[in-house]
Amino acid sequence: MSKLTMEKLVSLCKNRGFVFPGSEIYGGFANTWDFGPVGVELKNNVKKAWWKRFVQEDPNTYGVDAAILMNPKVWEASGHVASFGDPKMDCKKCKQRFRADTLVENHSKGSVSAEAMTNEQLEEYIQSNHITCPHCGGFDWTAIRKFNPMFTTSRGTLEEGADTVYLRPETCQGEYVNFLNVQRTARAKIPFAIAQIGKSFRNEITPGNFLFRTIEFEQMELQMFCKESESMEIYNDYKARALKFVEDLGLKSENLRYHDHDKLAHYAKAACDIQYNFPIGWQELNGIHHRGTWDLSRHQEFSGKSMLYLDPFTNEKFLPNVIEYSIGADRLTLALLCAAYEEEALENDTRIVMHLHPAIAPYKVAILPLQKNLSQKAKEVYASLAKDFMCDYDEAGSIGKRYRRQDEIGTPFCVTIDFDTLEDETITIRDRDTMKQERLKINELNNYISQKIKF
Ligand code: GAP
Repeated sequence: MSKLTMEKLVSLCKNRGFVFPGSEIYGGFANTWDFGPVGVELKNNVKKAWWKRFVQEDPNTYGVDAAILMNPKVWEASGHVASFGDPKMDCKKCKQRFRADTLVENHSKGSVSAEAMTNEQLEEYIQSNHITCPHCGGFDWTAIRKFNPMFTTSRGTLEEGADTVYLRPETCQGEYVNFLNVQRTARAKIPFAIAQIGKSFRNEITPGNFLFRTIEFEQMELQMFCKESESMEIYNDYKARALKFVEDLGLKSENLRYHDHDKLAHYAKAACDIQYNFPIGWQELNGIHHRGTWDLSRHQEFSGKSMLYLDPFTNEKFLPNVIEYSIGADRLTLALLCAAYEEEALENDTRIVMHLHPAIAPYKVAILPLQKNLSQKAKEVYASLAKDFMCDYDEAGSIGKRYRRQDEIGTPFCVTIDFDTLEDETITIRDRDTMKQERLKINELNNYISQKIKF
């Protein structure tokens, strides 16, 4: 089997209707992608699987769907507005971005106060001390630039005097600001979590690698609010649950690893990524962060509203600790596409087959009449299954070609309708992975498929 490259995957995705380049007829719009008819089903199924595992099956987790546009003060509290002024420079060799003041501080081991330096002084220090790129070791820096990681828009009818508002760069703030709303209405006792899935936007200057890093993407995030005494246990529990989730969906354990952070934000007590071995190498798939009381305390400070939790057992009031678990739906979809891809050598042929877990496969079953004059019966079977599953219907071309097309979009089952079907109400069902076929009664199909697609 030849190695999967990102180019091969992009081409398959484009040709089979998983993902198209954004605004393609206008020459595209860099690092935006549109999910096609097959891809939208896949990504929706990925999101459903996450929601089922972490919200539906967890009695202590509650969902929300907060507004994308939030009061701008939220982003002051979160620190995103302040980071607008951060002096950033890019390594021209590996395209990674760094804070110039951090480079200087790390190099001088804290003996130089980079905070007090002008941009010119920072650049001069970096050049004269030959500070190399921590990522690739290169020494080819851009000039320092101030860089806004958030997309802005404005509220108000008049351009002058209109207020700047931000497209959220992460979904979690909608969970923090609703902490007490959810706690009160759900009558929740800590430890409990708030989860949501939604779009985030980041003005990434060095995006790329297909769906890996884009300027508009979906996040699946949850914040678990808990007592400090139980927080490390919960943090470790989410590390394990996050790993199990992606393994259960089909990522192989040899392509997954934990990456515990050595350097932590000043408020963080622990942080870990789960990395996946993408065709571009080991990269972050998701994060699990022990954020202490930082987020709630910042919102308490900036909103002037108490975010204290009243413990109903001890009558004590305190700010809970937060464990965050955050994963990109698009990035996970990319990892699952990479993991599913196989060029399988057959006796006289090669087939591309996407071994997607049946629970996330775009179509669960394809209905294929062997000949066009069987289409009436085939459409009846389609209509009865389509009430319960996403089904495809295809009557064009040879049966071999139709099987290949379904293999390439990861359809776990193909049902062929033949002349015997008209006589005895039986069909042939073919398994995508083994290519084995068996004969079933039409009225057994629904149950058969339901059992196989469980997650
Ligand atoms: N609230 C925490 C947070 O947003 P993050 O590490 O910046 O943390 C979490 O993002 C996850 O979101 C990442 O692990 C990744 O899966 C996804 N993600 C972040 N930036 C992305 C981008 N530009 N494109 C696609 N996915 C992204």
